[in-house]
Amino acid sequence: MTVPNEPGADFDRFQRGENGLLTVQQHILREQGRSPGATGEFSWLLSGITLATKMIASRVRQAGLTDIIGEYGRSNIQGEKQQKLDVYANETLLHCLSWRDSIGFVASEENELPMAVHHGSPSAKYAVVFDPLDGSSNIDVNVSVGTTFSVLRRPDDGREDVSAWVLQPGKVQVAAGYVLYGSSTMLVYTTGNGVHGFTLDPAVGAYIMSHENIRMPIQGGYYSVNEAYHNEFPEMYRAYLDHIRKGGLGKRYSTRYIGSMVADFHRTLLKGGVFLYPPTAESPGGKLRLLYEANPIAFLAEQAGGSATDGRGRILDIQPRSIHQRTPLVVGSQKEMEAFAKFAGK
Ligand code: AHG
Ligand code: MN
Ligand code: MN
Repeated sequence: MTVPNEPGADFDRFQRGENGLLTVQQHILREQGRSPGATGEFSWLLSGITLATKMIASRVRQAGLTDIIGEYGRSNIQGEKQQKLDVYANETLLHCLSWRDSIGFVASEENELPMAVHHGSPSAKYAVVFDPLDGSSNIDVNVSVGTTFSVLRRPDDGREDVSAWVLQPGKVQVAAGYVLYGSSTMLVYTTGNGVHGFTLDPAVGAYIMSHENIRMPIQGGYYSVNEAYHNEFPEMYRAYLDHIRKGGLGKRYSTRYIGSMVADFHRTLLKGGVFLYPPTAESPGGKLRLLYEANPIAFLAEQAGGSATDGRGRILDIQPRSIHQRTPLVVGSQKEMEAFAKFAGK
């Protein structure tokens, strides 16, 4: 029997996952294979996130059966009451990422300060920032929650202090994404080469490619905002929302507001529309956190053909000053964002 020297066409087809079996690990390896000098460290790093989120998904799925619902009895640095699942998700991510020697620092919504992981080691090339559990007020009522993450590169100017590693503008993110624990569990991520979605097959325990190269529709039919704060929003936000309600975007809109940013954004990504968390009387600088909530969402939105602003400029251009810095956020499809820019005077 003769064995061909070149891999056959069938083999290529299998490797590309055209039989519907491409896992997220295989996808990361494939993407990595496209960048010269890639070493495999990056896929090992991301596998820390996929492992942790599978463990979190498993707990979320058992909420109500196990003693995981409810308050933990402490507040985090933002003064918000921690839920038991916030703490579990945080510890699981810290545990899984601590084994990745390519990570120098991690920073989490649930910890006041970033933590050194393998900082000091020459193999440490990345910082990872995350919101372990987004939308935690929804856990008790069986509504979707999520995890968001952003990966930053070690500064190349020799600065070794933690601020230099972590306080970088969103435009230099190496990768970002979220996991949505919804009616199914989905991982959506980008490395700057499009946005790809993977659905967790619970029987196999693997994220399988289900949404390749997601593009946000040019225009949607939903706007998503906490209307209860309407009277507190700055005038330009109120005028913009009135404009949408009056049919100014050429169609009739509906509202959808889940109260989990990941879930609200996921709908906006797939169906189009706009999600807003404007400044309010209680949070004049916005509520959402720049580094681990707005930045990953903004990177994904831009990669999918949408955009994101804080009402003054592009989210990804903001130079962060502190880890838990907050920002207003308006993110969505092209048409809705163009209209918003007019009201924002941009
Ligand atoms: P977290 O649970 O991580 O603190 O985030 C909650 C955030 C976000 O998910 C959501 O968009 C927003 O809070 C909802 O806030 P309101 O209840 O003020 O609308
Ligand atoms: Mn959050
Ligand atoms: Mn959170």
